[in-house]
Amino acid sequence: MILSVNLNPCIDKSVTVENLRLGQLNRVIPGRSDAAGKGINVAMAVKQLGGESFCIGFNYSENGRLITNALDRAGILHDLVMVLGVLRTNLKLYDTDTGLYTDLNEPGSFVPEDSIADLRFRIRRRAERCRYVTLSGSVPRGVPEDIYKTIISDLKGMNVKTVLDAEGELLRQGIEAKPWLIKPNLTEMETLFGRTYQREEEIIEDARKITAQGVNLVCVSMGALGAILCSGLNVWKAYPVEDLDAKGYQGAGDSMVAGICLASEKGLDLPTMLRYGAAAASASIIQEGTQMCTKLDFEAMLPRVKVEKIW
Ligand SMILES: Nc1ncnc2c1ncn2[C@@H]1O[C@H](COP(=O)(O)OP(=O)(O)OP(=O)(O)O)[C@@H](O)[C@H]1O
Ligand SMILES: [Mg+2]
Repeated sequence: MILSVNLNPCIDKSVTVENLRLGQLNRVIPGRSDAAGKGINVAMAVKQLGGESFCIGFNYSENGRLITNALDRAGILHDLVMVLGVLRTNLKLYDTDTGLYTDLNEPGSFVPEDSIADLRFRIRRRAERCRYVTLSGSVPRGVPEDIYKTIISDLKGMNVKTVLDAEGELLRQGIEAKPWLIKPNLTEMETLFGRTYQREEEIIEDARKITAQGVNLVCVSMGALGAILCSGLNVWKAYPVEDLDAKGYQGAGDSMVAGICLASEKGLDLPTMLRYGAAAASASIIQEGTQMCTKLDFEAMLPRVKVEKIW
């Protein structure tokens, strides 16, 4: 069972506009609305790939039914701490003229301290029946930036592998608690190390600094450049799948986390874990909006991902 922690749930609303004009009225072509938040995306991807998925986190009193309905419909078990407030909406705007995607993300409503304590307790209890705990995404107001570090530390000594996919301080502090695996993208790595990468060797060099600090595995997803998986000893690269009919990039990283955990749960080796992650990510990109990979697409992608040992 894979337990996905989702602290900042939202509705992802995808709309299309022809030639976005700032400061003027724009008429949009309505698109999909998906219950999202990175932990929810991971839970959905795990479930769609045939894994056992449980979602835990916060939800909001006013319109939180949108989240629980979506999880129920997907057949995903959940345990969400209810907080007073409104679920946020993230607008994903696609401009057909420029081909650019613009994100307008709201912050989440304030979470009080006692709800955080309640959630930590529930995570520890649930984790007793799980082998993987994923921690993904931003946090709503009121939640401190050391939250992932705290949760990873709470789980130390239990028989679970922790996976961290976050950015900025959440990631930096989370690393201090030595999660089993982290999955930063290129921008997140650059922010972490305060540099801009010119060459792949520089990324590997920094990824190895993280494994040297006690994180077992670092998977850096590089968008259209593929992904690398770095263990203390070796590095593998997954090349991007060519000629993908891309329809929505949201959730590619989340599907990747799901694929990696499922491969590891099956006892597969590190290059195969990377292949599963890249195949799941590629299968999510060909879906519109924030929809995760289907099992059929994932299986079709597996042989299309080329994985090579590069270190
Ligand atoms: N344009 C692309 N062409 C081919 N593959 C891609 C492309 N973009 C992403 N991928 C695949 O998806 C994986 C994850 O993508 P990316 O690095 O963009 O994740 P991310 O930024 O964490 O995404 P998320 O929005 O879910 O957080 C990549 O490692 C790659 O395998
Ligand atoms: Mg990401």
